[in-house]
Parts: sequence; C-alpha cells; structure tokens
Amino acid sequence: MKRISATERRDTKSGSKEVLSAKQIRSGFIDFFRDKEHEFVPSSPIMPIGDDTLLFTNAGMNQFKDIFLGLSSPKYHRVANSQKCLRVSGKHNDLEEVGKDTYHHTFFEMLGNWSFDDYFKAEAIQWAWELLTKVWDIGPESLWATVFAGDKADGLPEDEEATTLWTKVTSIPAERVLAFGKKDNFWEMGDIGPCGPCSEIHIDLGPDSCDMKQTKGHKCAVNSGCSRFIELWNLVFIQYSRDEGGKLDPLGAKYVDTGAGLERIAAVLQGRGSNYDTDLFMPINDCVGEISGHKYTSRLNNKIDNAFRVISDHIRALVFAITDGAAPSNEGRGYVIRRILRRASRFGRELGMHEPFMYKLVPVVVDCLGDAFCEIKERADYVSTVIESEEAAFGRTLDRGIEIFEAAAERAAGKSDKTISGEDAFQIYDTYGFPLDLTQLMGKERGLEVDTTKFDELMEEQRERARAAQKSSAFMVADTELPLTEDLHKYDFDRCDSKILGWIETGSFKNKGSIEAKAEVGVVLD
Ligand code: SER
Repeated sequence: MKRISATERRDTKSGSKEVLSAKQIRSGFIDFFRDKEHEFVPSSPIMPIGDDTLLFTNAGMNQFKDIFLGLSSPKYHRVANSQKCLRVSGKHNDLEEVGKDTYHHTFFEMLGNWSFDDYFKAEAIQWAWELLTKVWDIGPESLWATVFAGDKADGLPEDEEATTLWTKVTSIPAERVLAFGKKDNFWEMGDIGPCGPCSEIHIDLGPDSCDMKQTKGHKCAVNSGCSRFIELWNLVFIQYSRDEGGKLDPLGAKYVDTGAGLERIAAVLQGRGSNYDTDLFMPINDCVGEISGHKYTSRLNNKIDNAFRVISDHIRALVFAITDGAAPSNEGRGYVIRRILRRASRFGRELGMHEPFMYKLVPVVVDCLGDAFCEIKERADYVSTVIESEEAAFGRTLDRGIEIFEAAAERAAGKSDKTISGEDAFQIYDTYGFPLDLTQLMGKERGLEVDTTKFDELMEEQRERARAAQKSSAFMVADTELPLTEDLHKYDFDRCDSKILGWIETGSFKNKGSIEAKAEVGVVLD
C-alpha cells in the first residue's frame, strides 16, 4: 500500500487513492493478530450473559472478565476480536454526545487483541504501532501516546515502564508521550471489576479538524476534548480488580486488553473527517435522505445534520440490541432501548418525518454489517416489526407531546431559573411517553434545565399508586372465580386493541349492567 499521511488521507474524497472499506479494516486487524498467533473469537452478545453489574456490553473485555478474575481458564492465551459494544448507561455512557460531534456513538465495534497471562506491555505497544504505521500507513508524525501518571488516592505509581517502552519499541519521540491521571489513563469497566493503567494512541488530524474553535480559551491538545486530537486505540494493562469498597486488589496474573474503535479507524483510513462519512454510516444517511427528502452535509451545530447523525447512530444500536434480545419496555434494559428509539423518533421530526421510518433503515444496517454479524441478518424481520410497532405507539403521542413541551419550555424561559417544572416534565412523560432525558435534551437545546427532584418525587408517588392498585386488584381477582391466572402474561407495550370482557366490582365479575360514575372497577380484557 502506498504510504499516505493522515493529513493527506483527508484529501482522498475524490477516490483517487486506495481506500480500505470498513470490512477490509476489520479483517485486516484480525489477520494482523492471527499472524501474531492470536485466535479469533466471535463477539459476545450485546447483553452480557450472567453479569448483573452491566446492562449492556460496554467493552471488548466484558466476555473475558472471569478469566481476568481467575474464575475461569482461558482456552487461548492470545485472542483477537471485534466486539459489539453499547455505551448508553453506567460508567461509560456516550448517549448525550451522539449527534453533536462526529466521533461518539452509542453502538460501536471495538477491535481488540488480548493476552491472558502471556505477552504484556512491550508487545502490545509495539504491535499497535506496527499495525497503525506500517500496515495501515498512518504517518507516525501525526500520532501521540499517553501513559498513566499515577494516582495518590489509589496508591498507584506512574507507569514509567510504559513511558520507557514507547520510545524503545516504537519510533515515537519522547516529547509525544504524555502522562495523564486516572480519568484518562486508568481503565475500569464499571464501579467494580478488573482494571488497570492504560496507554492510549491519539491522532492529530490537523488544525482544521478542531470543532471548538469558537470556544473561548480552547487550546487544541491531546485530551482537550476537541475533534482535532482523537483517541484511536486504548491499550489496557489489566493488573487489578476493584472491590465493592473501592479497594484495588492485585490480580494473580497480568493481562492485556486493547480496544480500537472501528468507526474511528475507518474515518482516518478512508480520509474522512467524521465517522459518519465512512462506509459504515453513509448508506444509512443516504437512506434517511431518501425517506426525508433532506441531504446529509456533515455540518456540526446544524439541526438537520445532527438529526441524521442521531438517527444513523441509533438505528445501529437498536438493530444490534433488539437482535440480541432487548425489547422496548418500561424498565431496565428495555427502557434504555425505548429511550434510544424515542430519541431517534423525535429527531426524525426535525427532518419532517411524522410516520414510522426507523424500521425502514433496518435492511441498510443489515447490508452494511450482516456479513460480520450474521445474527442481524437472521432476525431482521423481527427487529423491523419491533421497531415499527414501538415507533407507531410513540408516534401517536409525539406530536402532541412536542406541543405540550413547547408550552412548558415557554413558561420556563419566562422564569428566572430557566427551569422546566417537575410537574410539566412528569406530564410529558406520563401522558405523552417522553423519557426524562428526552425532555432534558430538548430543554438543553433551548438553554433550559428540568426540575428532576420534583420529577423523581412524582415518579415515586406514581409507583406507590401503582403498587397499591396492584395490591387491591390482586385481592379482587383472587376473590373472583375467573380462570385468569394460568393465562396471565406479562405484557410489554403501551397500547393495543383489545375487547372488554367485563369488569370486577366489589369483588365480583360482571359483564352486564352499568357502572356508577366514579366507581372503582377492574376492567377485564381478552
Ligand atoms: N477496555 C478498554 C476500552 O474499552 C480497551 O479495550 O477502552
């Protein structure tokens, strides 16, 4: 492959230079590590099996957690994979960033190589550098490395070994190896579990790539939060497990856990300034364009382009999560899925889409990623059906909910604290199905806060009422002779068409007669 620097790559939109597809990048990564005696292992599901500490798989290392903790033995000591990850809750949550910038996602693929008590820092650093600079031909002059600066509270020293190795096993000059604290360079999967110092590789995409030029006092630098310096690869040296009390216990062996976001690598290797301009997203953007009549033009701080990014990100998350068994519901994982879908539906309104549209994007996601993850091909029809019915249910109240929100926002804008009341947020949630974070997001767009304390209070009162109602209806049903129990199902939807078979009043079932105004009855449906 001809050598081109990262800066030159951004000029390849004309297609005159060789451009690797995401598929080639993924297989190139796996092949590179196969040559270094790694075994390929498939991605684990996006919903971790048997791990209550996580709602969704948030990193490639989740499926290897028991190996790190010494609870199971590795089948292979060197492994490489591309893991389906969803970062929408808990310690790693990028939901809010999606749409605003060009490189955060809810769902993404993490390319990783792993050593289970085999090689350690030297090989991990050397091989990552070799793949980036020799195989993928990224100009070494555009790359920076970071190492762990140590942490007093945790009693951890600076990772001097990694600092030395960077200049010893790669060609990077010492001034481009920077040390950062725990926030940037100590990786933990959650509040508890395996963890360790990490060393990251960042790329400098050049001054034109900065998305914070308007921010007063901003200076482009590694870890400064702008899109000029992007983290490409994280090399974690897992050596500890954090317990519930926050204490770090050394593990019995040393492990390597690396993670490189395929979408970011694709943006660099395809010469695009944005992940959303790669072949992983453009087919979805094109389809959204066809449905809506708008065109994606990659601008930041632009309502239309933000909406494209949110929708194309969220449909990938939904396809993978629903394929692996999540379904929209009112609690836990299901509620996260519902929030993602409702957020996408609401952004669809920005593009003038008032009818269900997300389900139409499912085949495009399957076309893009179905070869690497055949499960999404197999469940595509089911996924479309789930998405369409959820969109239809929310769609019925969304437009009216937006109107109610607008009125609430106007009231809030007139107040000195610029805060949407908890009562308004609760009504928008309870009657129109807007998850709190959707109301917060819409508020933020207008510079408004939401009174979440009052909202939580009202939520709790509602839960109380529901618990009480459940108790009394259980009492009434138990008092009737209806053969209900063996046919009871747990339903997971907001609305459906149903036939009223009768009602339960003061402990007896009736299907003829009338009900007094304001009487409390239990309705029996088919
Ligand atoms: N566990 C690390 C991360 O998720 C590296 O794979 O960033």
